Amino acid sequence: MTILVLGATGKTGRRLVARLRGMGVEVRAASRSGEVRFDWADRAGWASVVQGVSAVYLVAAEEAEPVEAFVELAVEAGVKRFVVLSGRGIDRAGEALPARADGSPGVFGPGMVTAERAVEASGAEWSVIRANNFAQNFSEDVWTAPVEAGRLALPLGAVGEPFVDVEDVAEVAAVLLTEDGHSGRIYDVSGPESLTFAEAVEVIGRWTKPIEYVELTPEQYADELRGEGYPEEVVEVLDAMFGIMRAGHLSTPAQGVEQVLGRPPASFTAYAERTFGNR
Ligand SMILES: NC(=O)c1ccc[n+]([C@@H]2O[C@H](COP(=O)([O-])OP(=O)(O)OC[C@H]3O[C@@H](n4cnc5c(N)ncnc54)[C@H](OP(=O)(O)O)[C@@H]3O)[C@@H](O)[C@H]2O)c1
Repeated sequence: MTILVLGATGKTGRRLVARLRGMGVEVRAASRSGEVRFDWADRAGWASVVQGVSAVYLVAAEEAEPVEAFVELAVEAGVKRFVVLSGRGIDRAGEALPARADGSPGVFGPGMVTAERAVEASGAEWSVIRANNFAQNFSEDVWTAPVEAGRLALPLGAVGEPFVDVEDVAEVAAVLLTEDGHSGRIYDVSGPESLTFAEAVEVIGRWTKPIEYVELTPEQYADELRGEGYPEEVVEVLDAMFGIMRAGHLSTPAQGVEQVLGRPPASFTAYAERTFGNR
């Protein structure tokens, strides 16, 4: 059994690769810069990457376009199981964005939406992990620079977010890839408690210099992003994502980690101490 891990250098993928190898599973770790070269933009390279693979951890492309073709090719090559990494609230994807310039409906997370649909229609076994915001966004992604600068400015008010530790996401993915009984299931995964972003940076600040949380209006936030040079599509997508979060749709802790692993998810404080306490 060989498992193909896409996004294998990313936050969830590299932890999943290590976990599966620790279990003695044969892993093909793929991405543009990874051990095995895989690029969503280079279809000619896909066939050799899926050759001899029984299961795929599917971290979708940003855009919808290549995802369905990849799933079809993988099934033809003999892949029997897919585990898709998706986002909590993706089922509200259509509600939040204005129409695109060509009149087609705006879609939040088009690659993930397409990946979910494609595996469901593929005839193979499939399961989906719909994750809340990752705790590691504060240390390995979009909020790393604000944490280092001591100022995080977002348009979120007092709405809580049950940040999920990506170690838990990787452990859930490892189970879904290697154990039976999960096909056709969608698991919402989150941490055990909701924290406002002000509370989250207060927790991190116990191990770093103080971090100020600044509340912005959506318009002020969009202007900050434009000022930092983000293109208008990104501004729209982030505005949509925070709109879904502000509405409180993602703020209740989900049960997916407990359902799959039989134990509660890791707390944000445990993540923060492990990550910032050792620096
Ligand atoms: N961050 C969150 O809070 C959150 C929450 C829920 C869901 N998600 C979803 O999680 C996914 C990201 O997963 P992650 O956080 O584990 O990864 P990540 O840390 O964002 O890293 C992205 C991975 O994708 C690879 N990649 C980027 N462009 C590629 C391309 N054109 N072709 C092939 N591989 C490419 C990168 O490796 P190379 O650079 O080597 O190609 C890297 O391994 C996204 O779909 C996101 O929407 C994120």
